[in-house]
Amino acid sequence: MDFLKVAEASDIPPGKMKAFKTGKENVLIANIEGTFHAIANKCPHAHFPLNMGRLDGCVVTCPLHHARFNAETGANVEDAKILFLRLKPKDARCYPVKVENGEVMVGV
Ligand code: FES
Repeated sequence: MDFLKVAEASDIPPGKMKAFKTGKENVLIANIEGTFHAIANKCPHAHFPLNMGRLDGCVVTCPLHHARFNAETGANVEDAKILFLRLKPKDARCYPVKVENGEVMVGV
C-alpha cells in the first residue's frame, strides 16, 4: 500500500473536514480531536460529495438525504431519508491515515 500526501496537518483544524483528490481516490479527511481519519468523499447512497455536509464529533452527515457515517470507521450510523422512506446505505470506504512531519498521508 502506498501512502500519499494529501494535506498539511495544519490545513485541517480539529472539528473540521476537507476533501482531497489523491491518485484515483477522492477522500474526505476529518480531524477528530487531533486525530485524522479518511473515508471516501462519496456518499454510498447516491454518491453526493460528503464534504458538502456537516461533521459533528466523529459523524459526517450527507447533506442530500441526511444519511450519517462514522468518519473513524466509515460505518453507516443513520439511514438516508427521502420523504417518508428510510434507506440503508452501505458503509463508506475507509482509508488508513498517518501523519509524518506535519503531513497527512492516506493509504491507497
Ligand atoms: S446521497 Fe447521501 S444520503 Fe442520499
